[in-house]
Amino acid sequence: MIDDAGSPGAVRDRVLHITDLHFSRITWSPRRLANKRLLGMLNLRLRRLRRFDLSVREQTADALAREGAATVIAGGDFTTTSLDEEFQEAFAFLKGLEQRGLKVYAIPGNHDVYTFEAKRRGSFEQHLAGFMPAERLPARVVLAGGTPVVFAPGVKPNLLSSRGSIARRDIAETAQLVAEAPPGPVLVVGHYPLLFRTEAYAQGYMHRLGRANSLRAALGETGRTILYLAGHVHRRSETRDERYPNLTHATTNALFYRGRGGYTLVECTDEGFCCRVREIL
Ligand SMILES: [Fe+2]
Ligand SMILES: [Fe+2]
Repeated sequence: MIDDAGSPGAVRDRVLHITDLHFSRITWSPRRLANKRLLGMLNLRLRRLRRFDLSVREQTADALAREGAATVIAGGDFTTTSLDEEFQEAFAFLKGLEQRGLKVYAIPGNHDVYTFEAKRRGSFEQHLAGFMPAERLPARVVLAGGTPVVFAPGVKPNLLSSRGSIARRDIAETAQLVAEAPPGPVLVVGHYPLLFRTEAYAQGYMHRLGRANSLRAALGETGRTILYLAGHVHRRSETRDERYPNLTHATTNALFYRGRGGYTLVECTDEGFCCRVREIL
């Protein structure tokens, strides 16, 4: 790896992308089990608890801190049913990363606005405001080495599906933040992938981001070199967009997923990005 400052291809920022932590608490309180949460709880009991191994959180935090990156971007789905107790565990994990010297940015996933009540109460904001890149998305930050990062919105509560949606004005604003970013490759982060099918996953209609194709086109048409990083599918992938060659799509595994948990180390250079997959489980 070449990392001498100033040389071609020098790494100017290292970013760790983690996503879909899915901290989970089981509650049998009748008030809390109302509506969708009941289904979520049953689903949780039947499947999720066996899929996620949260016992490795401390060693994972240590591994992240050893990567030599300055920044962690956490791409959403911190919780399973948007319970306060789940957000508290997520907060403790992110705080632990911060205490290890990492700058942490967090955006919500669909599970963090799991119920209409959680959305109305602003549960994500209440617990994780200190890690948000801005009060609202889309937003742009510039990393210490000069890499611009644009955070895209798109999550909403649903009665049954896990479908997302991005408003047309937010698509235009996201593309504008990319187009007007400081020179060089731009990292764009959202919870939902923009490609519905890759070699690694296929997303049904009920799980997709609504207007994903419009966002994809708007990003592609900026002409900027873009790495679009997402989670949600719990699978890792990296795909060059066949319609927009300046746009590469990558997804990261769910961090604590048993058997294939892990994260992505993104090396940002003047010319583009290199994604290195790290496994922890
Ligand atoms: Fe998820
Ligand atoms: Fe998700």
